Amino acid sequence: MKAIDIRNKYLKFFEGKGHKVIPSAPLIPENDPSVLFTTAGMQPLVPYLLGQKHPEGTRLTDYQKCLRTNDIDEVGDNRHLTYFEMLGNWSLGDYFKEESIQMSFDFLTKELQIPVEKLSVTVFAGDKDCPRDEKAAECWKKAGILDGHIYYYGKDDNWWIAGEEGPCGPDTEMFYDTGKPACSPDCQPSCDCGKYVEIWNNVFMEYFKDKDGKYTKLSQQNVDTGLGLERMAMLLQGVDTPFDTELFKPVMEKLEQLQKVDIIESRRIVAEHLRSSIMIISDGGKPSNVDRGYVLRRLIRRMVRHMNKLQIDLVEISTLIEIYIQNLKEMYPELEKNKEIIINTIVEEKDKFVKTLVHGEKEFIKAMNNSKSEGKAKIDGNVVFKLYDTYGFPPEVTKELAEENNMEVDMKEFNELFKAHQEKSRQGSTQKFKGGLAGNSEIETKYHTATHLLNAALKLVVGPDTHQRGSNITTERMRFDFNCDHKLTDEEKQKVEEIVNQWIKEDLAVTVKEMTKEEALKSGAECMFIEKYPDIVTVYSIGDISKELCGGPHVKHTAEIGTFKIKKEEASSAGIRRIKAVII
Ligand code: SER
Repeated sequence: MKAIDIRNKYLKFFEGKGHKVIPSAPLIPENDPSVLFTTAGMQPLVPYLLGQKHPEGTRLTDYQKCLRTNDIDEVGDNRHLTYFEMLGNWSLGDYFKEESIQMSFDFLTKELQIPVEKLSVTVFAGDKDCPRDEKAAECWKKAGILDGHIYYYGKDDNWWIAGEEGPCGPDTEMFYDTGKPACSPDCQPSCDCGKYVEIWNNVFMEYFKDKDGKYTKLSQQNVDTGLGLERMAMLLQGVDTPFDTELFKPVMEKLEQLQKVDIIESRRIVAEHLRSSIMIISDGGKPSNVDRGYVLRRLIRRMVRHMNKLQIDLVEISTLIEIYIQNLKEMYPELEKNKEIIINTIVEEKDKFVKTLVHGEKEFIKAMNNSKSEGKAKIDGNVVFKLYDTYGFPPEVTKELAEENNMEVDMKEFNELFKAHQEKSRQGSTQKFKGGLAGNSEIETKYHTATHLLNAALKLVVGPDTHQRGSNITTERMRFDFNCDHKLTDEEKQKVEEIVNQWIKEDLAVTVKEMTKEEALKSGAECMFIEKYPDIVTVYSIGDISKELCGGPHVKHTAEIGTFKIKKEEASSAGIRRIKAVII
């Protein structure tokens, strides 16, 4: 079964079970600098898992574009991917273990027709924070999982949380038996010999872990599930790697045709990194030296190096991109639309890198000869860092070149320097972000309160599902991004302006209250990035027209603001509009 058919079957199945199909959020979280990329389907849904009401209801399903970069260096083997698609279904305080397990079982055995003998499941063994999940095991038995196919594991295997803090809970994972011989008599789903492949994860998200490691119950019992599409396609097609599925095959075959040297790992790296780069750029990513941009830069550079290893002419990059877009456009129609920017960005970055390689190699030879003349067998980490920092020469290339010259490199020292450098740029960008939102001169304070009024007015004029997606304030103007599928009409703009000015005239009181994050969400307070707030938050209310989680500062009475005027309304990115406004 082709990946797109698995996706369609999934969404249709869950739609049939009362779920609303919601669109994939972009790979780059909108206006959220706290995470680099969307790494799981639940990520854009965190506020709703914590209790905020979702406009589409309590049963949702989607396909989500995801990128995980922790295993970037493993790509090239037979299974690791950076970009992948996650199919998911959610209960936001609706159904729980029994219905979730029954639906998963039915989807696997009836829709995908996986024989039940091939399925094993794992459930949480229990510990001091949460009891053994007998309920999940019982539900699996009732659904039809065979005796001896249910395993109990601890937190390492059967507990899910994104990072260190946040909504979490015990999970139950489903495994597919590939039919390969067991590696030992003890071979179990937790073994990574390749016999068992994890296919789906249902998280029973009813806890919240705070930054001190304490677990409390959430206000509602949620279900969060994730099924890796590439992996499922591979298993259902009976092939050994995702690279053998139709998702990668045309590009893998083209690489085989073009290569002068046959290295399977390099072909996979080129194919994988190129697909991820295409997806990132299509969702607005640009190469740079920090954060997201650096991930993209690394992907493109690693791809170029492996094309060099395969001795493929780098002009072929555009052909490979064309093949991908042709191949994936049915799944991701946005690729075709963004084709030009995708090709231009990758080709430009490739050109820069080629120059860097030539220049950096000269500098490397100098540095290596210096080290040799000092009688060293190892190149210092600060030399590797300098090559990287000054000439953009990638540390992994330094390492490879050193090895070719029988030298070692002090990667430990390099990694320490690199970490310190990253921390510095991270702090820099947090600072920038804070500055944009919370400047506190008198005029900025006025703009800040006007932002809340605008947010509330847009909900009345455009619709209740309109939410803030970003904001930026200077002493000269305010900028406000919000989701909206159309250009505002003149009447709409005028109406928004009138409402805001009416509220200003009414001289509404601005009040502030401290409460827990959960209480805040329960009280219906609006919030853009819930995960970024501490456990105790401040909620600002303006009369009874607006209530938002916010760090402030704000004016005390709306009449202090002056007159609000919209200067411009324009597109910001797909589905996001931007208003520029001033106070006069
Ligand atoms: N959040 C869980 C995961 O990523 C289930 O979707 O595995």
